[in-house]
Order: sequence, then C-alpha cells, then structure tokens
Amino acid sequence: RILILDFGSQYTQLIARRVREAGVYCEIHPYDADPHFIQQFGAKGIILSGGPQSVHAIATPRAHSIVFELNVPILGICYGMQTIAAQFGGRVISATHREYGYAQVQLFGHSPLFRAIEDHTNSAGDALLDVWMSHGDRVDSLPPGFQVIAATAHAPLAAIADLNRHIYGVQFHPEVTHTRQGQRIIARFCHDICGCGDLWTPANIIDDAIDRIHARVGNDQVLLGLSGGVDSAVVAALLTRAIGDRLTCIFVDNGLLRLGEGDQVMATFAQHLGVRVIRVNAEARFLDQLAGIDDPEQKRKLIGATFIDVFEEQAAQLTDIHWLAQGTIYPDVIESAGAGTGKAKVIKSHHNVGGLPEHMQLKLVEPLRELFKDEVRRIGIELGLPTDLVYRHPFPGPGLGVRILGKVTKTAADTLRLADQIFIEELRRADLYDQVAQAFAVFLPVNSVGVVGDNRQYAPVIALRAVETLDFMTARWAHLPYELLDRVCRRIVNEVPNVSRVVYDITGKPPGTIEWE
Ligand code: XMP
Repeated sequence: RILILDFGSQYTQLIARRVREAGVYCEIHPYDADPHFIQQFGAKGIILSGGPQSVHAIATPRAHSIVFELNVPILGICYGMQTIAAQFGGRVISATHREYGYAQVQLFGHSPLFRAIEDHTNSAGDALLDVWMSHGDRVDSLPPGFQVIAATAHAPLAAIADLNRHIYGVQFHPEVTHTRQGQRIIARFCHDICGCGDLWTPANIIDDAIDRIHARVGNDQVLLGLSGGVDSAVVAALLTRAIGDRLTCIFVDNGLLRLGEGDQVMATFAQHLGVRVIRVNAEARFLDQLAGIDDPEQKRKLIGATFIDVFEEQAAQLTDIHWLAQGTIYPDVIESAGAGTGKAKVIKSHHNVGGLPEHMQLKLVEPLRELFKDEVRRIGIELGLPTDLVYRHPFPGPGLGVRILGKVTKTAADTLRLADQIFIEELRRADLYDQVAQAFAVFLPVNSVGVVGDNRQYAPVIALRAVETLDFMTARWAHLPYELLDRVCRRIVNEVPNVSRVVYDITGKPPGTIEWE
C-alpha cells in the first residue's frame, strides 16, 4: 500500500483516486502525521502532495525525516517536489514566470518513471508530455545526488530524481486528467517503482470488507437505515453477504421520495436480496411537521429531526442490536477529519442529514469508510445490485422537501413526482441520463396562466434542472437538445394535472446552486 502525505492541495483526493485506479490501496494522512504512525503504516511507497504554501517562506511544512529513512520510493508532486528539493539541499525560488494550465514538458535521462510514456516527440526525437501545471515557485538548483528528468520552457527542473534512492519529484500534476498520461505515470510509480501489485479489485475489496465486518461485529445483530441512495444500498448488500439475516434495515418513507421509490427499495432489498427491511410509512407525520413552514433551512432541520425520531422509535422495538451500520465514504472521512492542513477542505455540514444521536448507544460499523464513490459503485455492481440503482443521480436527504419551494404539501409532492418521473424517463429514453450528473424537476408555487380548452387556468410552474459536474462544487447547466425539452414540456403539461408552464434553468454554479433551495 501507498501512503499519501497531504500538504493541503485541492488535488490530494485525486492522487488517492489515481492510485486506487491503479489497483493499489492507499490512504491520505496529514503531512505532519506522527512519525511512529508513518513508520508503522507499512507503505511500499510515499507520495507527497502539492500544497498552497511557499517552500522558501519561513516555517512552512516539511516532510518528517522518517519519510526519507524508511528506504521506500518517494514521489513529490508540486509542493511535495519543492520540499524534497529544499530538504535535500537544493534551492527553490519564486518563479518570475508562473505557470498555470497546460504546458509541454520534455523528458530526459531515461527515468523509470516516464519510460515509454509520451504524448508527442519533437524534431530531435525527444519525448514530450502534455501536462497540467499550477505553481508559483520552482526548483532552481538540484540537490546533490539528483538529476533532471524533465523540463519546460519556464521550469528547467520540471521533474527531478535520485535514481539510487528512488526519490522522484514532478512539478506538474499527474493526478489531474488534463495531464493525459497522468494515470500511467502514477501507475508506473506504484507498480514498477514501489512494487505494488494490482490487487485492489472489486472482488478483493469485498473480501477484505467482509473479513473486517466479521472481526468487528462478531456474531452481533446490526441495524442499518436504508435511504434508497447508493451508499446505504451497498452497505446493505455487503452486510447481507457478510452476516446474512443478522442485518435488519429500517427504511423510512418520508413522503418526499421520487415516484415509486419506496416500492423499488422494497423490491430490490426485501424481495430480490432477501434483506429484512422494515418499511415505515411516515408520510403523514413528515407533512404534518412541515405544515406551514417555508424557510429552507428550517425545513431541512425538521426533516432531519423527524427522521431521527421515527428511526429511533422503530429501533427501540428491536432487541439485541448493538451495531449501527452507516454508509460513510472516504471523502466524508477526509473532509470531516480535515486531513492535512485543512486548507482545501469544504465541509458540507448541511448535507449530512440523518446523523444519529449518541444516546442510542450503538457502536458504529462503517464498511465503506475507505472507499471512493466510484469504488462503492463498482462493488455495488459486483454484489449484484441493479445498475439503475447504482448509477442513479444523487438525491438530497430532505428529498422533494427542498424541491418544492416554500410550503410543502401532498398535492405539490404528488405533482412534482409525476413531472420529475416524466423528465427522467425521457432523459433515459434519449440516452442522456448518464451524460448529466443530476437532473430533476422543481415545483414553483407561483400561479401562471395557461389555457385549458376554452378556459384560462392559473396553476403552478415546473422548472427543470439538469447539470454536468464531476464534484458538485461547480456545475454547468446541461445543454439538452431542444427536441427533448420540447417533448418533456408537452408531456408534463398534458399528463400532470394542474401545471400551467414548464421552464428550464440555465444558471451555472456558481452563482446558482444545483438545488433551488
Ligand atoms: P447544491 O444545491 O448545494 O448541491 O449546489 C450540491 C449537491 O448536494 C446536494 N444537496 C443535498 N444533499 N442534503 C443532502 O443530502 C441536503 O440538504 C442537500 N442540499 C443539496 C444536491 O442535490 C447536489 O447533489
């Protein structure tokens, strides 16, 4: 396995994903992690991430000397390379010409890191790579024992290596997809230089998770809240495989789910996978709680609190349960732990609806804690979950509660469900569902005029939202074909009672958030 020491780069998670994609297990820890921990970790290689600091400023982060005493290969990326250079006696300066964006590096010296990896060759036959640069400082003089292995026009030392000690530094970012050969470079480091095998496959991840679940819960009973989302679904499938009928799931139908979602959850888990699922139909209770409330944050809080109440009441009727399973995934862990300097971390606390209070006195089992979303999906498929469920767009915890603007009513929820279903059905039919990251309908409680037969009718408006994004932090509105939007609009006004008008949201994020509330 590989240890990634985080100096606070916004790309550190991407490094971990690239290493995992190479089939190698890795973990991210802060650059100033306890030296003892670093030693015990048993890494076959260490990657030092980039970071926002300037190496030549006073008192900036350095790698602990233990990192260089373990005699394992090291790869420093951007700041990571600069700190290596500084710590080994080289010199780092502020570049007069900062490089942000694409650059072409020329490779030298047959280093194992780049062997047979190239995008182009120049007229002299040298290999060239298209890479992504983002730095203000650069290494200006080599530390003793190091050689140059790549250069750009503005950074003559764009990559350096001490081939005897297997220490490498790259000024560019192999972890971002703009660096076309980045995945191969990271795989090369992990496999050829560190000697890690390609073992982190879905089947192995599952076996490993099952062993750990056995070790943790023994013969105890486990409880899980099933939401209809991917993470809790994969936890359910995994626990079923690990402990069979010692798993009990509670599925709270809050009346704010998508059309038919409750039945689908029951069909998949109770019927298909044979999981014991207690379905609680709590629509009336949620709508009661929400009656008359129109403040979005208050709605979110009420939905979260009501969920906890309902869940606890159900759990109280079960006996002999000691464990609560949760679908926490690795990005949640990294974000909330604030690994590294915490500079690049944005904590979306309001998104974590469904956290349970401590007084339940259940011990936690979180079998997805080390996995990224794409790994969760891959093991979901391997565990036999339906593709539609595994690749479903994300759905917020408060559900339609934040897609019905203002006061939530059953009529609005029923109207919205039908409109949303039509939109999604047409997207799938046009083969565009997987091209967008999230698509849904929003209920606008404003009366707009429409003509039905010979009568003017004043009725609510439906807005459609579809976005393209990888990280959900920024997003582009999806440029869906007019014919598709036309079809969706016609179907909604014809098939859904009491909708006068359909509009399409063309706001990017920022400034518009993805949800409307
Ligand atoms: P925004 O609207 O902030 O959404 O651009 C970014 C992503 O987060 C989801 N989202 C939520 N998820 N509870 C959740 O579980 C919430 O309260 C919540 N609000 C937004 C949103 O669907 C999108 O995927």
